[in-house]
Amino acid sequence: MSLQKKIEEVRISFRAALDSLTSDEKDIEGVRSKFLGRKGELADLFSQLATANSEEKPILGKLLNQLKNECSVSFEEKVRSFKKPEGYSMSPGEDYTLPGLHFPVGSLHPLQQILDEIKDVFKSIGFSIAYGPEIDDDFHNFQALNMPRHHPARDMQDTFFIDKNIVLRTHTSNVQIHLMENNNPPLRYIVPGRVYRNEAISFKSYCLFHQVEGLYVDKNVSFSEMKGTLEYFVKRLFGTDVKIRFRPSYFPFTEPSAEVDIWNEERDQWMEILGCGSVDPAVFENVGYDPEIWQGYAFGMGVERIAMLKYKIADIRQFYQNDVRFLSQF
Ligand code: DAH
Repeated sequence: MSLQKKIEEVRISFRAALDSLTSDEKDIEGVRSKFLGRKGELADLFSQLATANSEEKPILGKLLNQLKNECSVSFEEKVRSFKKPEGYSMSPGEDYTLPGLHFPVGSLHPLQQILDEIKDVFKSIGFSIAYGPEIDDDFHNFQALNMPRHHPARDMQDTFFIDKNIVLRTHTSNVQIHLMENNNPPLRYIVPGRVYRNEAISFKSYCLFHQVEGLYVDKNVSFSEMKGTLEYFVKRLFGTDVKIRFRPSYFPFTEPSAEVDIWNEERDQWMEILGCGSVDPAVFENVGYDPEIWQGYAFGMGVERIAMLKYKIADIRQFYQNDVRFLSQF
């Protein structure tokens, strides 16, 4: 048989051996030595090359070298394919039903979530959103709201003073005045924001908290319109089964005034969530609106209060401690 024919035969039998090769070490070594080893089939062909005549020698040498390359490359490739990729060993002890790696993702602060909900409800019924200054003068925070100096109602809001005339706002009601100074009626706004009070810190009071103020001014605005709006709001936030009541109250800037309570099952008691009322004509006069033409209603709610009721949080200070064990529950 010619050497060329033998070369073809070795190629064929090598391919067959490779096709049926298993990952067994002995099997692999067997094929390696049978074909590629020092005394293997390829070495044998090379030794036969010595006896070929000088015309054929270069051609056969080239064929033989091609075969050798082909065999060693495809052999190495096959052997490599038996090795598992790193990190994915399939040892029998592995359990693919175990939970995967956990990548923590952040979430919105519970106060932000409640604020977003409150804003969405009022936006859906035609209110716009406005903001106002947290540092303001006595006029906007008190006087224009019908609370002249020495008015006893000022005692309800322990005030941080920057100087005699400038305060950290004690409520978002200051923005009612800014809105009416800068816009002609009718208006319909809510005003979310931070407020500050110099109060003894406890589970229910903090020196800083959030309110959402509401102001609606138009012709022929009635107290019952306000009741309907606030009842709708409370039901959107707490569900239609919530128990709600309007209780007569007093604020210098509204007349008549009321507070809204919702029934708290856990504590078995009514909890106040907001104050409201018809805008006092004296407030309209302070901003140059004619109270004979314009009426309105206003309300102010405590955001922490609402979040505590909705999420059943017992201590207001938790909102400000940034403890991830608390925050990650929302
Ligand atoms: N500003 C009041 C407070 O902080 C809440 C309030 C009551 C706001 C009645 C209002 C209102 O707009 O009409 O206690």
